[in-house]
Amino acid sequence: MQSEGKTFRRIDKVLVTGGAGFIGSALVKRLVREGARVRVIDNLWRGRKENLRGDNGRFIIDVERDFDQADLADMHACRSLVRDVDLVYHLADVVSGVGFAFKEEPFIFHKNILINTGVLNACVENQVPRYVYVGTACSYPKCLQMADGVSALREEQTYPAEPESSYGWSKLMGEYEATLAQRSGRIEVGLLRLHNVYGPGASYEPERSQVIPALIRKALLYPAEPFVVWGSGDQYRDFIYIDDVVEALRLVVDRGMNKGLIQIGSERPTSVRELAETIAAASGKPITPVFDESRPQGDRGRIAVCDRAREILGWRPRTDLRSGIETTYRWIQRRIEEPPTAEETGSIA
Ligand SMILES: NC(=O)c1ccc[n+]([C@@H]2O[C@H](COP(=O)([O-])OP(=O)(O)OC[C@H]3O[C@@H](n4cnc5c(N)ncnc54)[C@H](O)[C@@H]3O)[C@@H](O)[C@H]2O)c1
Repeated sequence: MQSEGKTFRRIDKVLVTGGAGFIGSALVKRLVREGARVRVIDNLWRGRKENLRGDNGRFIIDVERDFDQADLADMHACRSLVRDVDLVYHLADVVSGVGFAFKEEPFIFHKNILINTGVLNACVENQVPRYVYVGTACSYPKCLQMADGVSALREEQTYPAEPESSYGWSKLMGEYEATLAQRSGRIEVGLLRLHNVYGPGASYEPERSQVIPALIRKALLYPAEPFVVWGSGDQYRDFIYIDDVVEALRLVVDRGMNKGLIQIGSERPTSVRELAETIAAASGKPITPVFDESRPQGDRGRIAVCDRAREILGWRPRTDLRSGIETTYRWIQRRIEEPPTAEETGSIA
């Protein structure tokens, strides 16, 4: 970890929306270690209460007092729950793999617009002083992600806007509204835009998971299930490990508030073919990936140029893909071999 305990302004009361999710729960763990009092709101659509347990199996926050299972698409819930904190990290949104994202475009757009506008406006009305929002690389114009060769993108290439999916549009609207709020002078805003995040804690359910956990699950189930990869395998992404993202989320509060959009990625293109081969190698099994070009694969690709993250936050990625995949593989393997009970997951029916 780069700078834990050294550079950070102490944060007392923090609310993490989506804090039972992948990135949110990793952030909550870090904040709790630093002594913050952390509250979480999550409707457990994809998050799991189990994600908020530490290595000793105990919850890292007082879930009776500091966890609210609530739907942030409900404006009234936002108004009553998003308050009395020094900082809101807003991570709740409908996030999924590419299959669900393209099948359920109206649902995702509608929900995310409601969630993002509800949480932000509750912060402003309830005089929360600081708000951190995370956007996505899916918000870049699709024409920039379809070109041959590697498309290395900078923050200023966002407009004219034309994201490929409703998810990308909804997340972009969240960035836009946060920028308006910041310009009004009523709240300080930190804006990160993340590329493809992976690591322990990521959802690996077949329907809603993203490419790395989905492929790790398939590798673990091989040969009982075939190792089928969606798309040609030529599409590439910029994969960034969870610890590096959490570091950026902490740094943005000290160094990146009201500084505009800062994207976070590894700056390295990894094709889905390379990814599948790396996961196959981590499994130790004789897997030959099968590429199914009839399934959606999303954009051809994009990677981040992280000059702003380096200059403003002093941030750079630390974890290489191979070791990040191996750690993630072992984490999912443990979960599949010894699944947590329904009581431990706190899952909704
Ligand atoms: N994982 C990535 O690769 C990635 C990349 C770019 C941006 N992001 C952004 O980071 C944030 C966190 O993503 P994640 O990967 O941890 O996904 P995640 O699905 O694990 O976390 C999102 C959380 O929001 C919760 N949620 C969804 N709808 C809700 C609602 N109506 N009310 C309350 N809670 C709700 C989910 O249950 C989940 O726990 C999201 O805003 C996402 O858009 C993620």
